[in-house]
Amino acid sequence: MNRPNAVRAFARQSCVLFAVLAAALSIAATPSLAEDQPPSKDTIFARKVAMGEIDMNMDEIETMLAPEGKLLLSDAEEHAEVISTLLMAFPHLFPPSTNQWKEGAERDPATDTFANPAIWSNFSDFYKRASEASKIAWAASRAKKPDEFRAQIKELRLRCNACHALNLKTE
Ligand code: HEC
Repeated sequence: MNRPNAVRAFARQSCVLFAVLAAALSIAATPSLAEDQPPSKDTIFARKVAMGEIDMNMDEIETMLAPEGKLLLSDAEEHAEVISTLLMAFPHLFPPSTNQWKEGAERDPATDTFANPAIWSNFSDFYKRASEASKIAWAASRAKKPDEFRAQIKELRLRCNACHALNLKTE
């Protein structure tokens, strides 16, 4: 691997991450608003948008890896890099005020959270799962061969599903 490129890519990734975190922190730091007012909604919206973006990028990759698909490794690796960045930022968008899922409550799939309240009782596990998935996506983005890329993406998909099984409510 070309070192300077890797360093630059990391710097670029950190830049995006910083912007996302700065936005999240400015939301969290707004003192004049009560906890369940617009800031929590904005944070929930931001993480849903981030997950939606992760999903779209994963979809692009999996379409290329499907039997009838055509793998363009450099394109696919860019998608993996975006996933890695977003997964790194994602767990920072879970302040306690956004623990709002309730059994049986009516919810809007576009704006309401489906995050399992269990996340907040074992946040370190949740954080670890997000970080590990982010690292796998990063490794995929740096794979040298299609087979290596495919194996990392397969592992990444298992991590998506495992985290959802524990932390995502379906209704
Ligand atoms: C660390 C845990 C974790 C990992 C890893 C993770 N997700 Fe998620 N995902 C969540 C949580 C939590 C939500 C719910 C967010 C909310 O509603 O506030 C979610 C929501 C989603 C949604 C929206 C689901 C819906 O119907 O509302 C999609 C799609 C999604 N994730 C795709 C993915 C994909 C694809 C990956 C792997 C590349 C992935 N996720 C990895 C935790 C995770």
